[in-house]
Amino acid sequence: MPFELKQTVPWGRTLAEYKSLFSLTESDLDKRIISFGDGPASFNKEMTAQNKQVVSIDPIYRFSASDLRQRIAETKDVVLKQTRNNLDNFVWTKIRNIDELERTRLSAMNDFLEDFENGRKSGRYINHELPNQTVFEDQSFDLALSSHFLILYAQLGFEFHRASITEMLRVAREIRIFPILDLDAQKPALLHELIHHFEKDFLVHIEKVDYEFQKGGNEMLILKQK
Ligand SMILES: C[S@@+](CC[C@H](N)C(=O)[O-])C[C@H]1O[C@@H](n2cnc3c(N)ncnc32)[C@H](O)[C@@H]1O
Repeated sequence: MPFELKQTVPWGRTLAEYKSLFSLTESDLDKRIISFGDGPASFNKEMTAQNKQVVSIDPIYRFSASDLRQRIAETKDVVLKQTRNNLDNFVWTKIRNIDELERTRLSAMNDFLEDFENGRKSGRYINHELPNQTVFEDQSFDLALSSHFLILYAQLGFEFHRASITEMLRVAREIRIFPILDLDAQKPALLHELIHHFEKDFLVHIEKVDYEFQKGGNEMLILKQK
């Protein structure tokens, strides 16, 4: 089935959020990073502005900046309304209220949109859908990230996750996935199946992080080459 823009609800986070949700240290930021399901996050733009190396991967990068801008305008009120209807499911400390959430997300997505066409030309934004194999050679990156994509979309199933994580571990020495809750804020059964599957050949552990917006969502999954 073709990937259609009208099926997507673009929503993007900032470098500051990525730093806390993946516990990225200054030395992590200097690594060669590939970030899957990056969507309209401003992570790549902000990192590039600091001369850091990030390649972002997402099927929405097949669309133009103006199509994405329009889709963001069409969907943002729906996302904010859903959040407003479920205020108790979130922790309002760093982001203090819905207005601040709207400002933070729109500012991140505008930063992304300004950077997108240039970044796509220079190969920083790549249109690609996991679990398909990427063009990169084995171990081309130090760190592969997935923010609010794998495990959160547990409905994609074990096989999708197994194949996607296998591809991420082929191209990177270490991967970090945040959060490890699904859309119902539960740890899905597939989390334990994935840990069980990968711990035979990789170092796998769960680590607490200094970020919690979805209630209970303050842990990341780390997988490393042995
Ligand atoms: C909730 S957004 C997260 C965006 C960003 N990582 C952040 O945390 O702000 C999930 C992203 O996963 C992307 N995605 C969905 N299916 C994908 C796939 N098969 N391969 C790679 N990315 C995918 C979506 O297009 C979307 O941009």
